[in-house]
Amino acid sequence: MERWISPNTITGDAATGERYFRRDYINEEFWREIKKGNHILFVAPRRVGKTSIMKDLADNPEADYYCIYQNIQGVKTKNEFYERLFHLFLDCIGKIKKLSSFLKRLSEKYSIDQVSVKGSITISRKNIDYEKELKSIIPQLKDQSITTVIFLDEFAEVINTLNKRKLKEDAIDILNTLREIRSDNNFRHFKLVFAGSIGLQFVIKNMDRPTLINDLHPIETKALSADEATLLIQQLIEDATIQFDEATLQYLQIKVKHLLPYYLQLMVEETDLVARKMNEPRISIPMVDKAFDQVLEKNKNFDDWIERLKEYHPEQFAFINEILTRCAHKGKIVIQEIYNIATNDKHKRNDDYMSFIVQLQNDGYLVELSKHTYKFLSPFLEQFWLNQYPVYNG
Ligand SMILES: Nc1ncnc2c1ncn2[C@@H]1O[C@H](COP(=O)(O)OP(=O)(O)O)[C@@H](O)[C@H]1O
Ligand SMILES: [Mg+2]
Repeated sequence: MERWISPNTITGDAATGERYFRRDYINEEFWREIKKGNHILFVAPRRVGKTSIMKDLADNPEADYYCIYQNIQGVKTKNEFYERLFHLFLDCIGKIKKLSSFLKRLSEKYSIDQVSVKGSITISRKNIDYEKELKSIIPQLKDQSITTVIFLDEFAEVINTLNKRKLKEDAIDILNTLREIRSDNNFRHFKLVFAGSIGLQFVIKNMDRPTLINDLHPIETKALSADEATLLIQQLIEDATIQFDEATLQYLQIKVKHLLPYYLQLMVEETDLVARKMNEPRISIPMVDKAFDQVLEKNKNFDDWIERLKEYHPEQFAFINEILTRCAHKGKIVIQEIYNIATNDKHKRNDDYMSFIVQLQNDGYLVELSKHTYKFLSPFLEQFWLNQYPVYNG
């Protein structure tokens, strides 16, 4: 046989360049909202594709829009946050030729050492009040007919970290300042795009300040349609040895059901491994089943779904997990069962159990099947829960 060629999958980092499957309507919605003057919030659980989308948007701006993307997860203090934002803003301006003299003046003022080829700056002057400086330099560009768009990935995590480090006031202060900026006409050419895998709404609700982000325009990143899933799979296997006939392709989609690009990438990658081992390029239904089980055996793909519940709700984890475990074992769960779990002596969550159900839906664990009946959104996740918690006495 000829050399075996694997599909062009990516299952670790964000998908970029040729590996990115674009949905034009997401880009269109994004630019429409930016042009209306909105700031954007990408809401979706981990691995749904936020980073891939943000990088694609930042790499393909419309005319007179200048974008910069950064993952800010490591930020641990308020000043560090503004320092990052300051750098990002200057890096962004560094891309705009007609602002080179403006940037030169700033370079002198802040002792900026070096503007590298890529435009990254380093600042040697110490003791800069970055918040104050940002507030003074951004408005100076308001009549330049350019707009800077700064993508802050993992922003929700930063706010959550500050909150957990007993810096709640700093977190609120940042959110307040950013909201002021968003409503200030002097900053109309400065747009922010936020993302995070934990619900920012929920983090902020926990801080008793639900209104601080009400003005952001949320863009949901949903699963792919069946047609889009087919196109993505075709893109992945274009040059590959494995082949799907139509029925098998359809079977794969029914099996995955919740058609996230990530799940499809995992399935195609694993199907290739199965096929290669059998030296059989034509994929059959049993091979798809085998691949599905193998994806699940590689627990690291799904561990995170449990870990983040423990991380963000350490005290409520036992309660949430009992709901999910029951749901996995029974195939669904109705509100009366949830209520019974909530009110038993172990959990005593009579007051707020419904907010967790809403959150489990927002975070991509459960869907409402019919009024007040819930089930797992993804068969992968449901089977993973069964594998993790094989026993349920209820
Ligand atoms: N548009 C896309 N095209 C192809 N693969 C994608 C796309 N979006 C997501 N993926 C898949 O999902 C994985 C996670 O994507 P990523 O953008 O990092 O998600 P998030 O930032 O929401 O955690 C990628 O490694 C890739 O396998
Ligand atoms: Mg990401």
